[in-house]
Amino acid sequence: MEFFEVVKKRRSIRKYQKKKIPEEYVEKILEAAFYSPSSRNRRPWHFVVVDEEGLIKKLAQTRPALEFLETAPLAIVVCGDEEISSAWVFDASIAAEHIQLAATALGLGTCWGHVLERMHNKEKSAEDYVRELLGIPEHIRVLCIIGIGYPAEEKPSHSEKEVMWGRVHRNRFGNSWKMK
Ligand SMILES: Cc1cc2nc3c(=O)[nH]c(=O)nc-3n(C[C@H](O)[C@H](O)[C@H](O)COP(=O)(O)O)c2cc1C
Repeated sequence: MEFFEVVKKRRSIRKYQKKKIPEEYVEKILEAAFYSPSSRNRRPWHFVVVDEEGLIKKLAQTRPALEFLETAPLAIVVCGDEEISSAWVFDASIAAEHIQLAATALGLGTCWGHVLERMHNKEKSAEDYVRELLGIPEHIRVLCIIGIGYPAEEKPSHSEKEVMWGRVHRNRFGNSWKMK
């Protein structure tokens, strides 16, 4: 799929078919993640690839906004080592988007489930809940969980109507890029 088709086609898909994702697709997606840029090329990423149904169902209970994981055959937990880089959040975010775009190019649907700085319940952070569930050590920080699967819902592609030309400034802030 051509690049602009991929970026337009990527939508947050929260319902998935039961169908298993071929291992070679999973590896292609991870390969794309490792091609991400990172601050000072420190490459602080860790990815926990979860395909056990029971574990995914528990990840879906991280917080209400992650309930969509319930039907996902695959979840990639996107992490960063804060001992390797203080910029791990930016690096992990870019990798998460590479994952979403690569999966889209392979005909899969994805959605970002946010974990960092969110709560599981009144006492426990979402990050600690995920960390305990998957045995992730303290210095490995959890940014988000990307749910991946063959789409079981259809959404229109993005379109040029969404481009906010009014937010684009030519040379100085306030000089609009387009005169209309
Ligand atoms: C940083 C970030 C956090 C997000 N967190 C969640 C989330 O926790 N749960 C969810 O269902 N969607 C989440 N999303 C998906 C957004 O809701 C979605 O990208 C947005 O509504 C635009 O829709 P689109 O992805 O179909 O273009 C998140 C997206 C980003 C970039």
